[in-house]
Amino acid sequence: MHIACIVGARPNFMKVAPIMRAMESDESIQATLIHTGQHYDAALSDVFFKELGIRKPDISLGVGSGSHANQTASVMIAIEEAILEAQQKGNPFTRMLVVGDVNSTMAATIAAAKLFLPVAHVEAGLRSFDRTMPEEINRLLTDSIADLLLVSEPAGVENLKNEGHPDERVHLVGNVMIDTLMTQLDRAKAQATLSELNLTASSYGVVTLHRPSNVDHPEVLSSLIDVLVDIADSMPLAFPIHPRTAGRLKEFGLFEKLESHANIHCLGPLGYLDFLCLTSQAKVIVTDSGGLQEESTALKVPCLTMRDNTERPITCTMGSSTLIGNSAEKLKKHLQEVLDGSYKSGECPKLWDGNASKRIVKVLVECEVSDLATSE
Ligand code: UD1
Repeated sequence: MHIACIVGARPNFMKVAPIMRAMESDESIQATLIHTGQHYDAALSDVFFKELGIRKPDISLGVGSGSHANQTASVMIAIEEAILEAQQKGNPFTRMLVVGDVNSTMAATIAAAKLFLPVAHVEAGLRSFDRTMPEEINRLLTDSIADLLLVSEPAGVENLKNEGHPDERVHLVGNVMIDTLMTQLDRAKAQATLSELNLTASSYGVVTLHRPSNVDHPEVLSSLIDVLVDIADSMPLAFPIHPRTAGRLKEFGLFEKLESHANIHCLGPLGYLDFLCLTSQAKVIVTDSGGLQEESTALKVPCLTMRDNTERPITCTMGSSTLIGNSAEKLKKHLQEVLDGSYKSGECPKLWDGNASKRIVKVLVECEVSDLATSE
Protein backbone atom coordinates (compact mmCIF):
# COMPACT_ATOMS: atom_id res chain seq x y z
CA MET A 1 0.00 0.00 0.00
CA HIS A 2 1.11 3.57 -0.75
CA ILE A 3 0.25 5.99 2.04
CA ALA A 4 0.36 9.79 1.72
CA CYS A 5 1.21 11.13 5.20
CA ILE A 6 0.21 14.75 5.67
CA VAL A 7 1.86 17.27 7.99
CA GLY A 8 1.30 21.01 8.08
CA ALA A 9 1.67 22.67 11.46
CA ARG A 10 3.84 22.29 14.55
CA PRO A 11 1.73 19.82 16.55
CA ASN A 12 1.61 17.47 13.54
CA PHE A 13 5.34 16.81 13.44
CA MET A 14 5.69 14.99 16.78
CA LYS A 15 2.64 12.89 15.90
CA VAL A 16 3.87 11.83 12.47
CA ALA A 17 7.49 11.11 13.53
CA PRO A 18 6.81 7.74 15.25
CA ILE A 19 4.21 6.74 12.64
CA MET A 20 6.71 7.29 9.80
CA ARG A 21 9.25 5.21 11.72
CA ALA A 22 6.79 2.38 12.27
CA MET A 23 5.76 2.49 8.59
CA GLU A 24 9.36 2.40 7.43
CA SER A 25 9.87 -0.87 9.26
CA ASP A 26 6.91 -2.52 7.49
CA GLU A 27 7.77 -3.76 4.02
CA SER A 28 4.19 -3.71 2.80
CA ILE A 29 3.99 0.08 3.18
CA GLN A 30 5.40 2.78 0.94
CA ALA A 31 5.04 6.15 2.74
CA THR A 32 5.18 9.52 0.99
CA LEU A 33 5.52 12.49 3.34
CA ILE A 34 3.70 15.65 2.23
CA HIS A 35 4.26 18.97 4.08
CA THR A 36 1.57 21.53 3.31
CA GLY A 37 3.68 24.43 4.57
CA GLN A 38 0.97 25.79 6.93
CA HIS A 39 3.83 26.43 9.34
CA TYR A 40 6.94 27.56 7.48
CA ASP A 41 9.16 29.35 10.05
CA ALA A 42 12.22 27.23 10.89
CA ALA A 43 11.33 27.48 14.59
CA LEU A 44 7.85 26.06 13.98
CA SER A 45 8.80 23.44 11.40
CA ASP A 46 12.43 22.59 10.38
CA VAL A 47 13.69 22.20 13.95
CA PHE A 48 11.21 19.34 14.57
CA PHE A 49 12.31 17.46 11.45
CA LYS A 50 15.92 17.75 12.59
CA GLU A 51 15.41 16.85 16.25
CA LEU A 52 12.88 14.07 15.71
CA GLY A 53 14.73 12.53 12.78
CA ILE A 54 11.82 12.95 10.36
CA ARG A 55 13.08 12.64 6.81
CA LYS A 56 12.81 15.61 4.44
CA PRO A 57 9.25 15.80 3.02
CA ASP A 58 8.93 14.07 -0.34
CA ILE A 59 6.53 16.81 -1.42
CA SER A 60 6.43 20.39 -0.03
CA LEU A 61 3.37 22.41 -0.96
CA GLY A 62 4.39 25.76 0.55
CA VAL A 63 0.86 27.09 1.15
CA GLY A 64 1.76 29.42 4.05
CA SER A 65 -0.56 31.59 6.17
CA GLY A 66 -3.88 33.18 5.30
CA SER A 67 -7.46 33.46 6.48
CA HIS A 68 -9.05 30.12 7.33
CA ALA A 69 -10.84 29.82 3.98
CA ASN A 70 -7.79 30.97 2.09
CA GLN A 71 -5.41 28.57 3.83
CA THR A 72 -7.87 25.64 3.63
CA ALA A 73 -8.53 26.26 -0.07
CA SER A 74 -4.81 26.51 -0.87
CA VAL A 75 -4.12 23.18 0.86
CA MET A 76 -7.06 21.52 -0.95
CA ILE A 77 -5.87 22.70 -4.36
CA ALA A 78 -2.26 21.68 -3.74
CA ILE A 79 -3.16 18.27 -2.25
CA GLU A 80 -5.51 17.51 -5.15
CA GLU A 81 -2.65 18.18 -7.56
CA ALA A 82 -0.29 15.95 -5.57
CA ILE A 83 -2.81 13.07 -5.57
CA LEU A 84 -3.41 13.40 -9.32
CA GLU A 85 0.30 13.65 -10.04
CA ALA A 86 0.98 10.40 -8.14
CA GLN A 87 -1.74 8.74 -10.27
CA GLN A 88 -0.26 10.10 -13.49
CA LYS A 89 3.18 8.81 -12.52
CA GLY A 90 1.71 5.32 -12.13
CA ASN A 91 2.33 5.17 -8.36
CA PRO A 92 -1.06 6.25 -6.95
CA PHE A 93 -1.70 6.65 -3.24
CA THR A 94 -3.96 3.93 -1.85
CA ARG A 95 -4.62 5.75 1.41
CA MET A 96 -4.01 9.10 3.08
CA LEU A 97 -3.06 9.47 6.74
CA VAL A 98 -3.79 12.74 8.54
CA VAL A 99 -3.15 13.64 12.18
CA GLY A 100 -4.67 16.11 14.64
CA ASP A 101 -7.04 18.97 13.97
CA VAL A 102 -5.25 21.78 12.15
CA ASN A 103 -6.51 23.37 8.94
CA SER A 104 -4.16 21.19 6.86
CA THR A 105 -5.72 18.04 8.39
CA MET A 106 -9.22 18.95 7.31
CA ALA A 107 -8.27 20.40 3.92
CA ALA A 108 -6.22 17.34 2.91
CA THR A 109 -9.05 15.04 4.00
CA ILE A 110 -11.64 16.87 1.88
CA ALA A 111 -9.40 16.85 -1.21
CA ALA A 112 -8.66 13.12 -0.78
CA ALA A 113 -12.26 12.06 -0.11
CA LYS A 114 -13.44 13.81 -3.28
CA LEU A 115 -10.91 11.80 -5.27
CA PHE A 116 -12.10 8.58 -3.54
CA LEU A 117 -8.81 8.24 -1.67
CA PRO A 118 -9.62 6.69 1.74
CA VAL A 119 -8.35 8.65 4.74
CA ALA A 120 -7.14 7.40 8.12
CA HIS A 121 -7.43 10.05 10.86
CA VAL A 122 -5.10 9.80 13.84
CA GLU A 123 -6.55 11.53 16.93
CA ALA A 124 -10.10 11.02 15.73
CA GLY A 125 -13.19 11.51 17.89
CA LEU A 126 -11.96 14.29 20.18
CA ARG A 127 -14.70 16.88 20.74
CA SER A 128 -14.71 20.06 22.79
CA PHE A 129 -18.35 20.66 21.74
CA ASP A 130 -17.30 24.27 21.21
CA ARG A 131 -17.76 25.26 17.60
CA THR A 132 -16.14 28.64 18.12
CA MET A 133 -12.81 26.78 18.03
CA PRO A 134 -11.53 26.39 14.47
CA GLU A 135 -10.06 23.00 15.48
CA GLU A 136 -13.52 21.68 16.46
CA ILE A 137 -14.83 22.39 12.97
CA ASN A 138 -11.75 20.67 11.55
CA ARG A 139 -12.30 17.60 13.78
CA LEU A 140 -15.99 17.25 12.91
CA LEU A 141 -15.45 17.56 9.16
CA THR A 142 -12.40 15.29 9.08
CA ASP A 143 -14.05 12.49 11.05
CA SER A 144 -17.28 12.69 9.07
CA ILE A 145 -15.50 11.71 5.81
CA ALA A 146 -12.43 9.76 6.99
CA ASP A 147 -12.84 5.99 6.64
CA LEU A 148 -10.54 4.86 9.45
CA LEU A 149 -10.80 6.58 12.83
CA LEU A 150 -7.80 6.04 15.11
CA VAL A 151 -8.54 7.25 18.61
CA SER A 152 -6.29 8.34 21.49
CA GLU A 153 -8.67 8.15 24.49
CA PRO A 154 -11.97 6.37 25.34
CA ALA A 155 -14.09 9.57 25.15
CA GLY A 156 -13.23 9.74 21.45
CA VAL A 157 -14.70 6.28 20.86
CA GLU A 158 -17.86 7.32 22.70
CA ASN A 159 -18.20 10.51 20.64
CA LEU A 160 -17.78 8.66 17.35
CA LYS A 161 -20.38 6.08 18.41
CA ASN A 162 -22.80 8.85 19.29
CA GLU A 163 -22.24 10.34 15.84
CA GLY A 164 -23.16 7.00 14.25
CA HIS A 165 -19.77 5.81 12.99
CA PRO A 166 -19.74 2.01 12.56
CA ASP A 167 -17.58 0.09 15.07
CA GLU A 168 -15.29 -1.43 12.45
CA ARG A 169 -14.02 2.01 11.48
CA VAL A 170 -13.15 3.05 15.03
CA HIS A 171 -9.95 1.83 16.75
CA LEU A 172 -8.66 2.91 20.16
CA VAL A 173 -4.90 2.94 19.53
CA GLY A 174 -3.52 5.34 22.15
CA ASN A 175 -1.53 8.52 21.88
CA VAL A 176 1.24 8.93 19.28
CA MET A 177 2.39 12.23 20.79
CA ILE A 178 3.36 10.28 23.89
CA ASP A 179 5.32 7.81 21.72
CA THR A 180 7.56 10.72 20.77
CA LEU A 181 7.73 12.04 24.33
CA MET A 182 8.89 8.68 25.67
CA THR A 183 11.49 8.25 22.94
CA GLN A 184 12.96 11.72 23.49
CA LEU A 185 12.63 12.28 27.27
CA ASP A 186 16.16 11.30 28.35
CA ARG A 187 17.72 13.25 25.51
CA ALA A 188 15.57 16.28 26.36
CA LYS A 189 16.47 16.24 30.05
CA ALA A 190 20.15 16.23 29.11
CA GLN A 191 19.79 19.61 27.31
CA ALA A 192 21.31 22.70 28.93
CA THR A 193 18.02 24.63 28.71
CA LEU A 194 17.49 25.04 32.47
CA SER A 195 21.01 26.18 33.28
CA GLU A 196 20.97 28.60 30.32
CA LEU A 197 17.88 30.23 31.80
CA ASN A 198 19.15 30.01 35.34
CA LEU A 199 16.22 27.83 36.41
CA THR A 200 16.24 24.93 38.86
CA ALA A 201 14.17 21.80 38.40
CA SER A 202 10.71 21.79 40.08
CA SER A 203 10.80 25.48 40.96
CA TYR A 204 9.45 27.31 37.89
CA GLY A 205 6.39 27.45 35.66
CA VAL A 206 6.12 27.08 31.88
CA VAL A 207 3.53 29.18 30.05
CA THR A 208 2.20 28.87 26.50
CA LEU A 209 -0.74 30.71 24.97
CA HIS A 210 -1.78 30.87 21.33
CA ARG A 211 -5.51 30.23 20.92
CA PRO A 212 -7.44 32.99 19.16
CA SER A 213 -9.96 33.01 22.05
CA ASN A 214 -7.16 33.93 24.48
CA VAL A 215 -4.84 36.10 22.41
CA ASP A 216 -6.93 37.90 19.80
CA HIS A 217 -8.95 40.18 22.11
CA PRO A 218 -7.05 42.96 23.94
CA GLU A 219 -9.13 42.82 27.14
CA VAL A 220 -8.80 39.02 27.46
CA LEU A 221 -5.08 38.95 26.69
CA SER A 222 -4.43 41.87 29.00
CA SER A 223 -6.21 40.15 31.93
CA LEU A 224 -4.19 36.95 31.33
CA ILE A 225 -0.94 38.89 31.27
CA ASP A 226 -1.89 40.57 34.58
CA VAL A 227 -2.31 37.11 36.14
CA LEU A 228 1.06 35.93 34.83
CA VAL A 229 2.86 39.03 36.05
CA ASP A 230 1.29 38.44 39.44
CA ILE A 231 2.38 34.77 39.61
CA ALA A 232 5.90 35.66 38.54
CA ASP A 233 6.38 37.54 41.82
CA SER A 234 6.43 34.16 43.58
CA MET A 235 7.76 31.81 40.86
CA PRO A 236 9.94 32.27 37.75
CA LEU A 237 8.15 31.65 34.45
CA ALA A 238 9.48 30.51 31.09
CA PHE A 239 7.19 31.74 28.29
CA PRO A 240 8.03 30.52 24.77
CA ILE A 241 5.88 32.81 22.65
CA HIS A 242 4.10 31.67 19.46
CA PRO A 243 4.47 34.19 16.56
CA ARG A 244 0.70 34.84 16.57
CA THR A 245 0.84 35.70 20.30
CA ALA A 246 3.99 37.82 19.93
CA GLY A 247 2.21 39.82 17.23
CA ARG A 248 -0.86 40.40 19.41
CA LEU A 249 1.19 41.30 22.52
CA LYS A 250 3.01 43.98 20.53
CA GLU A 251 -0.16 45.21 18.82
CA PHE A 252 -1.96 45.60 22.18
CA GLY A 253 1.07 47.20 23.89
CA LEU A 254 1.47 44.32 26.39
CA PHE A 255 4.88 42.93 25.47
CA GLU A 256 6.82 45.43 27.55
CA LYS A 257 4.88 44.54 30.70
CA LEU A 258 5.95 40.89 30.40
CA GLU A 259 9.48 41.53 29.30
CA SER A 260 10.24 44.03 32.04
CA HIS A 261 9.46 41.50 34.81
CA ALA A 262 12.77 40.07 36.06
CA ASN A 263 11.18 36.66 36.75
CA ILE A 264 9.58 36.18 33.31
CA HIS A 265 11.73 34.68 30.54
CA CYS A 266 10.14 35.71 27.24
CA LEU A 267 11.46 33.28 24.65
CA GLY A 268 10.84 32.65 20.96
CA PRO A 269 9.19 29.35 19.94
CA LEU A 270 11.42 26.49 21.17
CA GLY A 271 12.48 23.28 19.51
CA TYR A 272 11.09 19.97 20.77
CA LEU A 273 14.03 19.03 23.02
CA ASP A 274 14.43 22.42 24.74
CA PHE A 275 10.71 22.56 25.32
CA LEU A 276 10.45 19.04 26.72
CA CYS A 277 13.50 19.76 28.89
CA LEU A 278 11.54 22.69 30.38
CA THR A 279 8.13 21.04 30.73
CA SER A 280 9.36 17.72 32.11
CA GLN A 281 11.08 19.46 35.04
CA ALA A 282 8.56 22.24 35.67
CA LYS A 283 6.62 22.68 38.90
CA VAL A 284 3.56 23.72 36.92
CA ILE A 285 2.45 24.34 33.35
CA VAL A 286 -0.02 27.07 32.41
CA THR A 287 -1.29 26.63 28.87
CA ASP A 288 -4.13 26.69 26.35
CA SER A 289 -2.58 23.91 24.24
CA GLY A 290 -4.33 20.54 23.88
CA GLY A 291 -1.08 18.74 23.14
CA LEU A 292 0.58 20.12 26.24
CA GLN A 293 -2.38 19.01 28.37
CA GLU A 294 -1.61 15.48 27.16
CA GLU A 295 2.15 15.77 27.63
CA SER A 296 1.77 17.11 31.17
CA THR A 297 -0.50 14.14 31.95
CA ALA A 298 2.16 11.71 30.72
CA LEU A 299 4.83 13.64 32.67
CA LYS A 300 2.58 13.93 35.77
CA VAL A 301 3.31 17.66 35.97
CA PRO A 302 0.39 19.86 37.20
CA CYS A 303 -1.23 21.65 34.25
CA LEU A 304 -3.55 24.65 34.63
CA THR A 305 -5.37 24.84 31.33
CA MET A 306 -6.62 28.28 30.34
CA ARG A 307 -9.71 27.06 28.53
CA ASP A 308 -13.38 26.61 29.46
CA ASN A 309 -13.58 23.18 27.83
CA THR A 310 -11.37 20.44 26.51
CA GLU A 311 -11.60 17.83 23.77
CA ARG A 312 -9.18 15.72 25.85
CA PRO A 313 -11.23 15.01 29.02
CA ILE A 314 -8.98 12.20 30.25
CA THR A 315 -6.26 14.79 30.98
CA CYS A 316 -8.60 16.24 33.64
CA THR A 317 -10.39 13.13 34.92
CA MET A 318 -7.29 10.95 35.14
CA GLY A 319 -4.38 13.26 34.39
CA SER A 320 -2.86 16.32 36.00
CA SER A 321 -4.79 19.02 34.13
CA THR A 322 -7.47 21.34 35.52
CA LEU A 323 -9.59 23.66 33.36
CA ILE A 324 -9.48 27.18 34.71
CA GLY A 325 -10.85 29.24 31.78
CA ASN A 326 -9.31 32.66 32.05
CA SER A 327 -10.12 33.14 35.69
CA ALA A 328 -7.36 34.84 37.67
CA GLU A 329 -8.99 33.64 40.88
CA LYS A 330 -8.90 29.97 39.86
CA LEU A 331 -5.37 30.32 38.62
CA LYS A 332 -4.25 31.71 41.98
CA LYS A 333 -6.17 29.04 43.91
CA HIS A 334 -4.68 26.09 42.01
CA LEU A 335 -1.24 27.62 41.93
CA GLN A 336 -1.35 27.84 45.69
CA GLU A 337 -2.27 24.14 45.80
CA VAL A 338 0.72 23.36 43.58
CA LEU A 339 3.02 25.38 45.84
CA ASP A 340 1.77 23.81 49.09
CA GLY A 341 1.76 20.27 47.61
CA SER A 342 -2.02 19.70 47.79
CA TYR A 343 -2.69 19.80 44.01
CA LYS A 344 -4.19 16.52 42.74
CA SER A 345 -1.85 13.85 41.45
CA GLY A 346 -2.55 12.23 38.09
CA GLU A 347 -2.19 8.92 36.28
CA CYS A 348 -1.03 8.23 32.73
CA PRO A 349 -3.77 6.57 30.59
CA LYS A 350 -3.19 2.92 29.72
CA LEU A 351 -2.59 3.19 25.99
CA TRP A 352 -0.29 6.20 26.29
CA ASP A 353 2.57 3.77 26.52
CA GLY A 354 4.92 4.59 23.66
CA ASN A 355 3.46 1.96 21.30
CA ALA A 356 0.53 3.78 19.68
CA SER A 357 2.25 4.14 16.30
CA LYS A 358 2.90 0.39 16.13
CA ARG A 359 -0.80 -0.25 16.82
CA ILE A 360 -1.71 2.26 14.09
CA VAL A 361 0.43 0.50 11.49
CA LYS A 362 -1.10 -2.83 12.50
CA VAL A 363 -4.61 -1.43 11.95
CA LEU A 364 -3.59 0.08 8.60
CA VAL A 365 -2.20 -3.24 7.41
CA GLU A 366 -5.10 -5.32 8.76
CA CYS A 367 -7.97 -3.05 7.67
CA GLU A 368 -7.89 -3.32 3.91
CA VAL A 369 -9.60 -0.41 2.22
CA SER A 370 -12.02 -2.86 0.57
CA ASP A 371 -13.12 -4.23 3.99
CA LEU A 372 -14.25 -0.76 4.98
CA ALA A 373 -15.87 0.04 1.64
CA THR A 374 -18.37 -2.75 2.28
CA SER A 375 -19.32 -1.38 5.71
CA GLU A 376 -21.36 1.60 4.39
C1 UD1 B 1 -2.22 26.33 14.24
C2 UD1 B 1 -3.44 25.42 14.46
C3 UD1 B 1 -3.62 25.16 15.96
C4 UD1 B 1 -2.35 24.64 16.59
C5 UD1 B 1 -1.24 25.65 16.30
C6 UD1 B 1 0.07 25.24 16.91
C7 UD1 B 1 -5.29 25.70 12.87
C8 UD1 B 1 -6.67 26.22 12.72
N1 UD1 B 1 -4.66 26.07 14.00
O1 UD1 B 1 -2.52 27.60 14.81
O2 UD1 B 1 -4.65 24.18 16.13
O3 UD1 B 1 -2.55 24.46 17.98
O4 UD1 B 1 -1.09 25.76 14.89
O5 UD1 B 1 1.06 26.17 16.62
O6 UD1 B 1 -4.81 25.00 12.00
N2 UD1 B 1 2.86 32.22 11.58
C9 UD1 B 1 4.19 32.49 11.57
N3 UD1 B 1 5.04 31.52 11.12
C10 UD1 B 1 4.62 30.31 10.68
C11 UD1 B 1 3.24 30.05 10.69
C12 UD1 B 1 2.37 31.00 11.16
O7 UD1 B 1 4.62 33.57 11.95
O8 UD1 B 1 5.44 29.48 10.31
C13 UD1 B 1 1.93 33.24 12.09
C14 UD1 B 1 1.27 34.01 10.96
O9 UD1 B 1 1.07 35.32 11.36
C15 UD1 B 1 -0.06 33.31 10.83
C16 UD1 B 1 -0.37 32.98 12.29
O10 UD1 B 1 0.91 32.63 12.84
O11 UD1 B 1 -1.03 34.09 10.22
C17 UD1 B 1 -1.31 31.85 12.50
O12 UD1 B 1 -0.85 30.68 11.84
P1 UD1 B 1 -1.88 29.52 11.47
O13 UD1 B 1 -1.16 28.40 10.83
O14 UD1 B 1 -3.03 30.09 10.72
O15 UD1 B 1 -2.46 29.07 12.88
P2 UD1 B 1 -1.76 28.90 14.33
O16 UD1 B 1 -2.21 30.00 15.22
O17 UD1 B 1 -0.31 28.67 14.20
